[in-house]
Amino acid sequence: MGKAKGDEVLWVRDMDHGIRKLGPDEVLERLKALKAPYHEGYLAMYSSWYGGIVTDPALMVVPLDDHLVHRGDGIFEAFKCIHGNLYGLERHLDRLERSAAGLHLSLPFERAAITRIVKATVRAAGVRDAMVRLFASRGPGGFSTNPYECPAPQLYVVCCRFLSTPAARYERGVTLKSSHVPIKIAYLASMKSCNYLPNVLMKKEAEDAGVDFTVSIDEDGFLGEGSTENVGIITRTGELLVPRFDRVLRGTTVTRVMELAAGLVEKGELARVGEADISRGQAYEAPEIIMFGTSFDILPVVRFDDRPIGGGKPGPWATRLLELLRTDMAGCEAMLTPIED
Ligand SMILES: Cc1ncc(COP(=O)(O)O)c(C=O)c1O
Repeated sequence: MGKAKGDEVLWVRDMDHGIRKLGPDEVLERLKALKAPYHEGYLAMYSSWYGGIVTDPALMVVPLDDHLVHRGDGIFEAFKCIHGNLYGLERHLDRLERSAAGLHLSLPFERAAITRIVKATVRAAGVRDAMVRLFASRGPGGFSTNPYECPAPQLYVVCCRFLSTPAARYERGVTLKSSHVPIKIAYLASMKSCNYLPNVLMKKEAEDAGVDFTVSIDEDGFLGEGSTENVGIITRTGELLVPRFDRVLRGTTVTRVMELAAGLVEKGELARVGEADISRGQAYEAPEIIMFGTSFDILPVVRFDDRPIGGGKPGPWATRLLELLRTDMAGCEAMLTPIED
């Protein structure tokens, strides 16, 4: 039934018995038999389609006729639960609402109900540290592109084990390369939609090139964003600059870091924090290039397009900003939503 390729298992059904119709009990039995190593990280899933939470990874499925599946017609968010507190939940829900407006998608629940569902899903997962992914979809309703054939939008929330980024990536830094994947138009870049093919191809590009991340480049040669992360630079004059949020997603991590770093401008430690057009040449010359994203928080870039950045070693600002952010995650009540009511 399963074919091993490295440590990955490719599930290929035994065709020896031919192809025949299956009854519901047989399907359930077969679904439950499909056990893959990566299932270990899937702890709980809420589905509005089921109207409840499941904890068996085999049952964490979405109907094929949900337009989320066959047209990418949906939106998503990913956020962390740290020691029993959802970090930045309100910002993620703000962005979810902005993305929904961009797709003209009505969310299936009010914000308070979504929050209750998220909390219940994490509690059902039985952990206090987790990565939560929330999907709002156009819903099942046929197989065309027509969103009006879907009677009701759906919500799926999946709570996964949190995989922390290895310490070596913070200590030794990461590598970055310019992407050849065309940058998204502003309208699509500003939404966290499930139409993420350019992002997928950027990740593939990075994997194939043996670098950690690739960064999109716009038609004028200015930096955009990574596959699922923002990028910024520290300039020689002590500014923290990030690409303008018109062709890139407004990341919750970089936004929070910019707010926290504004305090350092007041203290005179940083000259400025802001958005700017950042050319590749400017980034090559920058003392630091920094990546920002929910899963790893902040990572220092030590090579960009095979050029060493900051002498090929992580710079002090990446560490300083990471400390600021981690302190915020540990103690800023306004940013923390407890999973217990
Ligand atoms: C395209 C893109 N840019 C940037 C980010 C970083 O956003 P956040 O800091 O909210 O994780 C993401 C997050 O997944 C993303 O998908």
